Amino acid sequence: MKPAVLVLQPLSSARQAELESLYEVHRAEALPPDVADRIDAVVTDGHHGLSSDQVAMLPRLRLVASGSAGLEGIDRGALAARGIPLTNPAVALAEEVADVAMMLLLAGWKDLRALDAFVRTGEWGRGEFPLGRALAGRTLGILGLGTIGVAVAKRAEAFGLRVAYHSRHEKPGGYAYEPTLLGLAERSDILMVIVPGGAETKGMVDAAVLEALGPEGLLVNVARGTVVDEPALIAALESGRLGGAALDVMWNEPRPDPKLTALPNVVLTPHVGSATRETRDAMSANVLANLRALFAGEALVSEV
Ligand code: DGY
Repeated sequence: MKPAVLVLQPLSSARQAELESLYEVHRAEALPPDVADRIDAVVTDGHHGLSSDQVAMLPRLRLVASGSAGLEGIDRGALAARGIPLTNPAVALAEEVADVAMMLLLAGWKDLRALDAFVRTGEWGRGEFPLGRALAGRTLGILGLGTIGVAVAKRAEAFGLRVAYHSRHEKPGGYAYEPTLLGLAERSDILMVIVPGGAETKGMVDAAVLEALGPEGLLVNVARGTVVDEPALIAALESGRLGGAALDVMWNEPRPDPKLTALPNVVLTPHVGSATRETRDAMSANVLANLRALFAGEALVSEV
Protein backbone atom coordinates (compact mmCIF):
# COMPACT_ATOMS: atom_id res chain seq x y z
CA MET A 1 0.00 0.00 0.00
CA LYS A 2 1.30 3.46 -0.91
CA PRO A 3 1.94 5.94 1.93
CA ALA A 4 -0.86 8.50 2.29
CA VAL A 5 -0.03 12.19 1.87
CA LEU A 6 -2.34 15.14 2.50
CA VAL A 7 -1.62 18.05 0.15
CA LEU A 8 -2.87 21.46 1.29
CA GLN A 9 -0.81 23.35 -1.30
CA PRO A 10 0.07 21.56 -4.56
CA LEU A 11 3.60 21.41 -5.96
CA SER A 12 4.65 22.68 -9.40
CA SER A 13 2.63 20.71 -11.97
CA ALA A 14 5.34 18.22 -13.02
CA ARG A 15 6.32 17.55 -9.39
CA GLN A 16 2.68 17.24 -8.34
CA ALA A 17 2.21 14.54 -11.01
CA GLU A 18 5.27 12.76 -9.63
CA LEU A 19 3.88 13.04 -6.09
CA GLU A 20 0.58 11.54 -7.23
CA SER A 21 2.31 8.64 -8.97
CA LEU A 22 4.30 7.74 -5.85
CA TYR A 23 1.78 8.23 -3.05
CA GLU A 24 -1.90 8.04 -2.18
CA VAL A 25 -2.62 11.77 -2.36
CA HIS A 26 -5.56 13.47 -0.64
CA ARG A 27 -6.46 17.10 -1.24
CA ALA A 28 -9.56 17.71 0.91
CA GLU A 29 -8.99 19.73 4.07
CA ALA A 30 -11.93 17.96 5.78
CA LEU A 31 -10.88 14.33 5.52
CA PRO A 32 -13.15 11.40 6.41
CA PRO A 33 -11.82 9.90 9.69
CA ASP A 34 -10.72 6.61 8.09
CA VAL A 35 -8.51 8.59 5.67
CA ALA A 36 -7.22 11.00 8.34
CA ASP A 37 -6.08 7.97 10.35
CA ARG A 38 -3.84 6.87 7.47
CA ILE A 39 -2.11 10.17 6.64
CA ASP A 40 1.67 9.81 7.01
CA ALA A 41 2.76 13.22 5.75
CA VAL A 42 1.37 16.67 4.97
CA VAL A 43 2.54 18.96 2.17
CA THR A 44 1.66 22.58 2.87
CA ASP A 45 3.31 26.01 3.02
CA GLY A 46 3.48 28.96 5.38
CA HIS A 47 0.40 30.55 3.83
CA HIS A 48 -1.88 27.47 3.89
CA GLY A 49 -0.35 26.39 7.19
CA LEU A 50 -1.30 23.51 9.48
CA SER A 51 -3.12 24.24 12.74
CA SER A 52 -2.85 22.36 16.02
CA ASP A 53 -6.42 21.08 15.45
CA GLN A 54 -5.41 19.66 12.08
CA VAL A 55 -2.33 18.04 13.61
CA ALA A 56 -4.54 16.48 16.30
CA MET A 57 -6.75 14.91 13.61
CA LEU A 58 -3.79 13.04 12.04
CA PRO A 59 -2.68 10.35 14.49
CA ARG A 60 -0.11 8.74 12.13
CA LEU A 61 1.53 11.98 10.99
CA ARG A 62 5.30 11.59 10.63
CA LEU A 63 6.35 14.58 8.52
CA VAL A 64 5.22 18.06 7.50
CA ALA A 65 7.00 19.20 4.34
CA SER A 66 6.58 22.91 3.62
CA GLY A 67 6.82 24.08 0.03
CA SER A 68 7.76 27.58 1.19
CA ALA A 69 10.62 28.84 3.30
CA GLY A 70 8.10 30.84 5.34
CA LEU A 71 6.42 28.70 8.00
CA GLU A 72 4.17 31.32 9.60
CA GLY A 73 0.87 29.38 9.42
CA ILE A 74 2.29 26.06 10.61
CA ASP A 75 1.85 25.36 14.32
CA ARG A 76 5.40 24.32 15.13
CA GLY A 77 4.61 23.87 18.82
CA ALA A 78 1.98 21.22 17.99
CA LEU A 79 4.49 19.37 15.81
CA ALA A 80 7.29 19.62 18.37
CA ALA A 81 4.98 18.27 21.10
CA ARG A 82 4.59 15.06 19.08
CA GLY A 83 8.16 14.98 17.76
CA ILE A 84 6.96 15.39 14.16
CA PRO A 85 9.71 16.84 11.95
CA LEU A 86 9.16 19.85 9.69
CA THR A 87 11.13 20.59 6.52
CA ASN A 88 11.34 23.66 4.28
CA PRO A 89 13.07 24.44 0.98
CA ALA A 90 15.21 27.39 2.15
CA VAL A 91 18.29 25.81 0.53
CA ALA A 92 16.46 25.67 -2.81
CA LEU A 93 15.42 29.33 -2.90
CA ALA A 94 18.18 31.17 -1.04
CA GLU A 95 20.13 32.31 -4.12
CA GLU A 96 16.98 33.47 -5.93
CA VAL A 97 15.69 35.48 -2.97
CA ALA A 98 19.17 36.95 -2.48
CA ASP A 99 19.12 38.14 -6.11
CA VAL A 100 15.79 39.87 -5.58
CA ALA A 101 17.05 41.33 -2.30
CA MET A 102 20.05 42.86 -4.07
CA MET A 103 17.86 44.14 -6.93
CA LEU A 104 15.67 45.96 -4.37
CA LEU A 105 18.68 47.20 -2.42
CA LEU A 106 20.21 48.73 -5.56
CA ALA A 107 16.90 50.12 -6.84
CA GLY A 108 16.15 51.73 -3.48
CA TRP A 109 19.62 53.04 -2.79
CA LYS A 110 20.10 54.45 -6.30
CA ASP A 111 16.44 55.60 -6.61
CA LEU A 112 15.74 53.65 -9.80
CA ARG A 113 12.11 54.80 -9.90
CA ALA A 114 13.11 58.49 -10.11
CA LEU A 115 15.87 57.79 -12.65
CA ASP A 116 13.47 55.88 -14.89
CA ALA A 117 10.81 58.60 -14.63
CA PHE A 118 13.41 61.28 -15.42
CA VAL A 119 14.06 59.66 -18.79
CA ARG A 120 10.44 58.78 -19.62
CA THR A 121 8.97 62.21 -18.81
CA GLY A 122 11.55 64.06 -20.91
CA GLU A 123 12.87 65.94 -17.87
CA TRP A 124 16.34 64.83 -18.92
CA GLY A 125 16.12 67.28 -21.85
CA ARG A 126 15.94 70.15 -19.34
CA GLY A 127 19.08 69.25 -17.34
CA GLU A 128 21.11 66.62 -15.55
CA PHE A 129 19.73 64.35 -12.85
CA PRO A 130 21.12 65.39 -9.43
CA LEU A 131 24.18 63.42 -8.36
CA GLY A 132 23.45 60.20 -6.49
CA ARG A 133 25.21 58.42 -3.64
CA ALA A 134 27.82 55.67 -3.72
CA LEU A 135 27.08 52.25 -2.27
CA ALA A 136 30.56 50.84 -1.61
CA GLY A 137 31.76 51.31 1.96
CA ARG A 138 28.24 51.58 3.42
CA THR A 139 26.98 49.18 6.07
CA LEU A 140 24.31 46.60 5.34
CA GLY A 141 22.58 45.35 8.48
CA ILE A 142 20.97 41.96 7.99
CA LEU A 143 18.17 40.96 10.32
CA GLY A 144 18.30 37.14 10.29
CA LEU A 145 21.51 35.47 9.10
CA GLY A 146 20.03 32.13 7.99
CA THR A 147 20.56 30.42 4.63
CA ILE A 148 19.11 33.37 2.70
CA GLY A 149 20.85 35.95 4.87
CA VAL A 150 24.23 34.38 4.13
CA ALA A 151 23.49 34.36 0.38
CA VAL A 152 22.71 38.11 0.62
CA ALA A 153 25.85 38.78 2.69
CA LYS A 154 28.07 37.17 0.03
CA ARG A 155 26.56 39.32 -2.70
CA ALA A 156 26.79 42.44 -0.53
CA GLU A 157 30.52 41.86 0.04
CA ALA A 158 31.04 41.75 -3.71
CA PHE A 159 29.45 45.22 -3.87
CA GLY A 160 31.92 46.52 -1.28
CA LEU A 161 29.36 46.74 1.52
CA ARG A 162 30.31 46.14 5.15
CA VAL A 163 28.02 43.48 6.60
CA ALA A 164 26.65 43.37 10.15
CA TYR A 165 23.76 41.28 11.42
CA HIS A 166 21.38 40.62 14.25
CA SER A 167 19.85 37.26 15.07
CA ARG A 168 18.93 35.43 18.27
CA HIS A 169 22.40 33.92 18.48
CA GLU A 170 25.82 34.86 17.18
CA LYS A 171 26.78 32.74 14.15
CA PRO A 172 30.10 31.59 12.72
CA GLY A 173 31.18 33.25 9.46
CA GLY A 174 33.00 36.34 10.65
CA TYR A 175 30.25 38.94 10.06
CA ALA A 176 29.87 41.63 12.75
CA TYR A 177 27.22 40.59 15.28
CA GLU A 178 24.91 43.16 16.88
CA PRO A 179 23.16 41.89 20.01
CA THR A 180 20.16 44.21 19.51
CA LEU A 181 18.11 45.12 16.46
CA LEU A 182 18.16 48.78 17.51
CA GLY A 183 21.96 48.68 17.64
CA LEU A 184 22.02 47.13 14.16
CA ALA A 185 19.72 49.84 12.77
CA GLU A 186 21.89 52.57 14.35
CA ARG A 187 25.07 51.35 12.65
CA SER A 188 23.44 50.49 9.27
CA ASP A 189 22.83 52.53 6.13
CA ILE A 190 20.60 49.77 4.81
CA LEU A 191 18.59 47.33 6.93
CA MET A 192 17.61 44.08 5.22
CA VAL A 193 14.83 42.00 6.78
CA ILE A 194 15.23 38.23 6.27
CA VAL A 195 13.78 36.70 9.46
CA PRO A 196 10.78 34.34 9.17
CA GLY A 197 7.28 35.75 9.67
CA GLY A 198 4.92 34.63 12.44
CA ALA A 199 4.05 35.68 15.97
CA GLU A 200 7.65 35.74 17.20
CA THR A 201 8.82 38.38 14.74
CA LYS A 202 5.58 40.36 14.31
CA GLY A 203 6.21 44.11 14.28
CA MET A 204 9.84 43.78 15.43
CA VAL A 205 10.93 46.46 12.95
CA ASP A 206 9.09 49.23 14.79
CA ALA A 207 9.11 53.04 14.86
CA ALA A 208 12.27 53.18 17.02
CA VAL A 209 14.20 50.88 14.65
CA LEU A 210 13.09 52.90 11.60
CA GLU A 211 14.07 56.15 13.29
CA ALA A 212 17.49 54.70 14.15
CA LEU A 213 17.97 53.80 10.48
CA GLY A 214 17.36 57.46 9.79
CA PRO A 215 16.55 59.98 7.04
CA GLU A 216 19.28 58.63 4.74
CA GLY A 217 18.52 55.00 5.58
CA LEU A 218 16.90 52.35 3.42
CA LEU A 219 14.75 49.46 4.63
CA VAL A 220 14.61 46.35 2.42
CA ASN A 221 12.13 43.57 3.25
CA VAL A 222 12.15 40.23 1.41
CA ALA A 223 10.78 38.19 4.34
CA ARG A 224 7.20 38.81 5.45
CA GLY A 225 5.25 42.07 5.68
CA THR A 226 4.28 41.26 9.26
CA VAL A 227 7.86 41.69 10.51
CA VAL A 228 7.57 45.46 9.93
CA ASP A 229 5.11 47.72 11.73
CA GLU A 230 3.65 49.05 8.48
CA PRO A 231 1.74 52.08 9.84
CA ALA A 232 4.98 53.15 11.57
CA LEU A 233 6.87 52.58 8.30
CA ILE A 234 4.41 54.74 6.33
CA ALA A 235 4.58 57.49 8.96
CA ALA A 236 8.39 57.44 8.96
CA LEU A 237 8.55 57.58 5.16
CA GLU A 238 5.97 60.38 4.96
CA SER A 239 7.76 62.52 7.53
CA GLY A 240 11.27 61.85 6.15
CA ARG A 241 12.43 60.21 9.40
CA LEU A 242 13.27 57.23 7.16
CA GLY A 243 14.83 57.79 3.74
CA GLY A 244 13.27 54.99 1.72
CA ALA A 245 11.98 51.43 1.55
CA ALA A 246 12.27 48.65 -0.99
CA LEU A 247 9.73 45.93 -0.33
CA ASP A 248 8.91 42.55 -1.85
CA VAL A 249 6.43 41.84 0.95
CA MET A 250 3.86 43.96 2.74
CA TRP A 251 0.66 43.80 4.77
CA ASN A 252 -2.55 43.01 2.88
CA GLU A 253 -0.99 41.28 -0.12
CA PRO A 254 -2.06 41.41 -2.91
CA ARG A 255 -3.80 44.75 -2.21
CA PRO A 256 -1.34 46.79 -0.14
CA ASP A 257 -2.25 50.00 1.64
CA PRO A 258 -2.72 52.84 -0.92
CA LYS A 259 -0.83 55.13 1.48
CA LEU A 260 2.20 52.89 0.95
CA THR A 261 1.87 52.55 -2.82
CA ALA A 262 1.47 56.34 -3.20
CA LEU A 263 4.82 57.14 -1.58
CA PRO A 264 7.58 58.29 -3.94
CA ASN A 265 10.41 56.94 -1.75
CA VAL A 266 9.25 53.33 -1.95
CA VAL A 267 9.99 50.69 -4.58
CA LEU A 268 7.73 47.66 -4.58
CA THR A 269 7.68 44.16 -6.07
CA PRO A 270 4.77 41.70 -5.77
CA HIS A 271 6.27 39.01 -3.46
CA VAL A 272 8.46 37.48 -6.17
CA GLY A 273 11.49 36.54 -4.05
CA SER A 274 11.42 32.91 -5.17
CA ALA A 275 9.17 33.31 -8.22
CA THR A 276 11.11 31.84 -11.11
CA ARG A 277 10.26 28.61 -12.95
CA GLU A 278 13.60 27.09 -11.96
CA THR A 279 13.42 27.94 -8.28
CA ARG A 280 9.75 27.03 -7.81
CA ASP A 281 10.53 23.66 -9.39
CA ALA A 282 13.55 23.20 -7.12
CA MET A 283 11.35 24.02 -4.10
CA SER A 284 8.84 21.35 -5.15
CA ALA A 285 11.68 18.89 -5.77
CA ASN A 286 12.87 19.56 -2.21
CA VAL A 287 9.43 18.58 -0.86
CA LEU A 288 9.57 15.32 -2.85
CA ALA A 289 13.12 14.62 -1.68
CA ASN A 290 12.06 15.00 1.96
CA LEU A 291 9.08 12.66 1.47
CA ARG A 292 11.28 10.14 -0.30
CA ALA A 293 13.82 10.26 2.55
CA LEU A 294 11.09 9.76 5.16
CA PHE A 295 9.63 6.70 3.47
CA ALA A 296 13.09 5.25 2.76
CA GLY A 297 14.00 5.63 6.44
CA GLU A 298 16.81 8.05 5.56
CA ALA A 299 17.80 11.40 7.09
CA LEU A 300 15.55 14.25 5.95
CA VAL A 301 17.08 16.61 3.41
CA SER A 302 16.20 19.94 5.00
CA GLU A 303 14.68 19.69 8.46
CA VAL A 304 14.22 23.03 10.23
C1 DGY B 1 8.70 31.53 0.70
O1 DGY B 1 9.18 30.47 0.30
O2 DGY B 1 8.44 31.74 1.88
C2 DGY B 1 8.39 32.59 -0.32
O3 DGY B 1 8.15 33.80 0.27
C3 DGY B 1 7.21 32.18 -1.16
O4 DGY B 1 6.06 32.14 -0.35
